[in-house]
Amino acid sequence: MCGIIGYVGSKEAVPLLLNGLKRLEYRGYDSSGIALIDGPEIQILKKKGKLEALEQELLGGKQKATIGIGHTRWATHGAPNDVNAHPHLSGNGSIALIHNGIIENYIELKKTLLTKGYTFKSDTDTEVLVNLIAEFYDGDLQAAVIRALRRVEGTYGIAVIHVDHPDEIVFARKGSPLVVGIGEGEYLIASDLAAMVEHTRDVVFLEDGEVGTISRNGFTHIKLDESPISRSVTHIDFTLEQIEKGGYKHFMLKEIMEQPITLEDSMRGRLLEEVGEIRLGGLTEHLDALTRAERILLLACGTSYHAGLVGEYLIEDLARVPVEVEYASEFRYRHPVISPNTVSFSISQSGETIDTLEAMREAKKQGALSLGIVNTVGSTIARESEGGVYLHAGPEIGVASTKAFTSQVTIFAMLAILLGRQRGMSDSVAKELIIALKKIPSQVDQILKHQDQIVDIAKTFSRASNFLYLGRGINYPVALEGALKLKEISYIHAEGYPAAEMKHGPIALIDRHMPVVVVAPQDKNHAKIVSNIEEVRARDGVVIAIVSEDDHEVDRLANHIIRVPETHPSLMPLLTVIPLQLLSYYAADLLNLDVDKPRNLAKSVTVE
Ligand code: G6P
Repeated sequence: MCGIIGYVGSKEAVPLLLNGLKRLEYRGYDSSGIALIDGPEIQILKKKGKLEALEQELLGGKQKATIGIGHTRWATHGAPNDVNAHPHLSGNGSIALIHNGIIENYIELKKTLLTKGYTFKSDTDTEVLVNLIAEFYDGDLQAAVIRALRRVEGTYGIAVIHVDHPDEIVFARKGSPLVVGIGEGEYLIASDLAAMVEHTRDVVFLEDGEVGTISRNGFTHIKLDESPISRSVTHIDFTLEQIEKGGYKHFMLKEIMEQPITLEDSMRGRLLEEVGEIRLGGLTEHLDALTRAERILLLACGTSYHAGLVGEYLIEDLARVPVEVEYASEFRYRHPVISPNTVSFSISQSGETIDTLEAMREAKKQGALSLGIVNTVGSTIARESEGGVYLHAGPEIGVASTKAFTSQVTIFAMLAILLGRQRGMSDSVAKELIIALKKIPSQVDQILKHQDQIVDIAKTFSRASNFLYLGRGINYPVALEGALKLKEISYIHAEGYPAAEMKHGPIALIDRHMPVVVVAPQDKNHAKIVSNIEEVRARDGVVIAIVSEDDHEVDRLANHIIRVPETHPSLMPLLTVIPLQLLSYYAADLLNLDVDKPRNLAKSVTVE
């Protein structure tokens, strides 16, 4: 995701900014740029692609500036290219801005600025903000930023410079992290500690609704309503690697723990609760095709395939459109029949999985509208699809996918409501689902806060050789995903099965050495799955049950119970999968395995 670094002091800014941007690379980005004040103009350099492209233009350059801002962009509004890269300059060339986050009302603001004669070069929301600041500027940069931000809806972490203030960087934060670094006669601002720890370890963490200025002489900050703030300096003594992992031992754990935020990010601006509607910008021009769709085809691999299976339940149940989910590798080679009015969605975290990409090309060739559900902005699948939806879950680094799965399922829930509304879903049903969706991030947080019990279960079973995972209905794909997570990182053999199918084979494996994880929340299948638990217990199998908060029916049967909060039954996979992610993580960690880079696996599989 986007990264911010700003420096003002007595050293040359360019190497310092480049180094800071390198430290932010691990977050993922698609373009970068810097702005400097050195003389009568702001100098800007922006490049699509890797930082090396920017570095090559800058090194050996004559920039001796001692103030500047730098940015790595992870595209949200507008394609990743040189023009859309940050910093953005105001039309009059006097102000440069870098921005993390999304300005939700930028279209409205842009219309107002257009009537005042402003023009825009990029497709970004950020260029609107820099011009809004220019509109309010009357000699005091911080005051102009405050006035502009009072009109902004959305999230931001920003750093701003003005050619007439070669000693100042103004910053502000709402929903996107920023930290001020304090050195001797020099100050830094960054979105991430990693970008500044080589220069200073004395920092002030900013909170939402704060705005301020760093200069060579000091730093001040106030609240957006101009009330004062008093906050002490924190001394950091983590290593760089620990910082990149946000203090967690592994990226996978960090990614599991950040799901309350990534889920909010995936839903942001997309849920119109008042009217019970869903807005997915990347599908707007395909709404007619989606209304006409007689069949939906979901193409994916690995965890994304499991998210597609949940999507099948959601779309068929809520929108009544037939859905087929296929392993991309099978689809592309089996001469599939594509009937007219088929809409395909290729689902991929990386957007680069070769089988998914080729399956998408095949579906397109055969006349299906080819849309994508992708996390990595600007990836090949995102570029080659005819439209689609980004997850906005941020870079996923741990090889075992976690936060991408819950964001994919969230997108499917939104898509099912959108399709359902086109086919007669009532206001009240849509609103009920939207309200339930909005609660999911805090409910995930609740599960994460009670993970001690899952650590204990992992301790009990980390030496097991086999696991069985069972689920029914929409929680059957969760059982598949739980089993995949466990085998990927702990190398314990695990199989996921529809609970009722157990009788047709796997039941032969059950004895007192076989832990059986049963995903059994309250829903219409509950009584049936309780019978399946009885069948396991009758054969001495050890049951770990995932149940709804207030359900005590399974207590007498299960050896271990993990409770998850109540939600709409269609959204349950978003909660039931969390304990399974944690169980696999802790089992692998207890075995001292390389959790983030398990043997033989790759994050992005670009070979067949
Ligand atoms: C690899 C990864 C999995 C991922 C799968 C599909 O196998 O290790 O975690 O689910 O590829 O990747 P994609 O990027 O297309 O979702």
